[in-house]
Amino acid sequence: MALGSGFLRRKEISEIIAEAESGGTGLKRVLGPGNLVLLGIGAIIGAGIFATVGTAAVGDAARPGAGPALVISFVLTGVACGFAALCYAEFASMVPISGSAYTYAYTTLGELVAWIIGWDLIIEYAVGNVAVAISWSGYFDQMMKGLGFHIPAWLTIDYRTAFQGEHVWRVVEMLKSGAGIDSITEYATAVGKVRGFLADKVDLATIQAGVTKAHAAVAGAPHLGGVPIIFNLPAVLIVLAITAVLVVGIRESAAFNAVMVFIKLAVLALFVIVGIFYIDSKNYTPFAPGGWAGIRAGAAIVFFAYIGFDSVSTVAEECKNPGRDMPIGIIGSLVICTVVYIAVAAVLTGMIPLSAFTQENKAEPLTVALNWHKLAWISGIVAFGSVVAHTCVLLVFQLGQPRIFFSMSRDGLLPRVFAAVHPRFRTPHVTTIVTGVLVAACAAFTNIDEMVDLTNIGTLFAFILVCAGIIILRYREPERKRPFRVPFMPWTPILGIVSCIYLATGLPGVTWWRFAVWLGVGLVIYFLYGFRKSALNNKPPRVPR
Ligand code: ALA
Repeated sequence: MALGSGFLRRKEISEIIAEAESGGTGLKRVLGPGNLVLLGIGAIIGAGIFATVGTAAVGDAARPGAGPALVISFVLTGVACGFAALCYAEFASMVPISGSAYTYAYTTLGELVAWIIGWDLIIEYAVGNVAVAISWSGYFDQMMKGLGFHIPAWLTIDYRTAFQGEHVWRVVEMLKSGAGIDSITEYATAVGKVRGFLADKVDLATIQAGVTKAHAAVAGAPHLGGVPIIFNLPAVLIVLAITAVLVVGIRESAAFNAVMVFIKLAVLALFVIVGIFYIDSKNYTPFAPGGWAGIRAGAAIVFFAYIGFDSVSTVAEECKNPGRDMPIGIIGSLVICTVVYIAVAAVLTGMIPLSAFTQENKAEPLTVALNWHKLAWISGIVAFGSVVAHTCVLLVFQLGQPRIFFSMSRDGLLPRVFAAVHPRFRTPHVTTIVTGVLVAACAAFTNIDEMVDLTNIGTLFAFILVCAGIIILRYREPERKRPFRVPFMPWTPILGIVSCIYLATGLPGVTWWRFAVWLGVGLVIYFLYGFRKSALNNKPPRVPR
């Protein structure tokens, strides 16, 4: 039954559960608590810990670094995520349906907000995966180089970065040859492009490496109708390979995920155990060179490393005992990863002085620390672990996104074809393939930093709405059976909301704009399509008891 009318109409929880239990979805219930914790860890540990902690420790042109106080940044973000995780756990145990935050919003805040959050989750899952796929490609390229294989530059870079770098190259060449820049327009364009390219690069080595790679890409690229072909091939291939695995089935995917989680945990454990012997207490002073601003900026950066515990909730319909196991999966995976992150951060910042990081090498912080102590073979193992960890995140996010599309389609807000289940594999194959193709296409052409910022804002927004939903539902339906209850109500969700807003305000203005545009496009689609096609249109509105 629909409660309320217009875009404020809501779905009744009992009805959603009955719909799913009547066999409406066709998804198989095969996952236990162990699988869920592994799925959570699979989604959490990836590009964040292997690639972004260097920036969080030393900062960049726009923000100060946390220094050894990086551990505090990790604790702060871990606590903020903990508030949200408790709220997710209550919802996921109470509404064990595949749509995650989207479904929770449908039952509490109404159809419009549900649509907005579903649309927003595309940013967390699909855009997040675009960022991870690009980061994966960077590590893979490095690994291949280490093995003596060179992938052409035009196949490992995005179009815009290549042309910004190429522009810098041309300007430098023009100045070197004494040709100068003739027209005002040309000059203005050149300055704009050069600024864009230099925005996050503060040392000469990084600039030179970037410009050289960009020029190699543009100069070496084949042309089609006069247009150079430049894209990130490894990123595309890994996304397509993962899509194929997911179409075949979740049990197989869960097994694949378990192996990868084991490898990445083992690699991080190796890093910590070896690294402890190389800690020099001198590296811990000064403890917070960037002060509170550095710790806060670090916390905002490492937020990306925590994203993923919530994705456990997207497989609720494939879980044997969701009431008990969902909270275990969500909270368990977050706690384990927080402990691992704090250990890695403490060892990393104790192993080397901050000055060992340059803008050039900080994207591979763990291997930099090992190489600093001439532990080349361990560094090789960690680089391999990093590729595995990235792959694992891709797998779980790629698993989550189709299940959200699936729920939205079942509710009529997206075309019915999105809810199709494969007759043999019993997986939502249409949405899995659509997601795979979209993510691969974006990963081919976009820039990683922008994708990370967008993912962060989209995820924080989802967390805020989930925390708000928990408060609303406790007041509106206090008697509803809650296999897991958030403690210290209403303070836990309130603190979740406040801390997520605090982290989001640390993101650049342009990210806010992009996010607003994305939501605007979503609203237009809702009013043109979902509002009219909603499954609730066929049901008479009913006044709640
Ligand atoms: N937490 C995920 C990662 O770090 C998104 O790759």
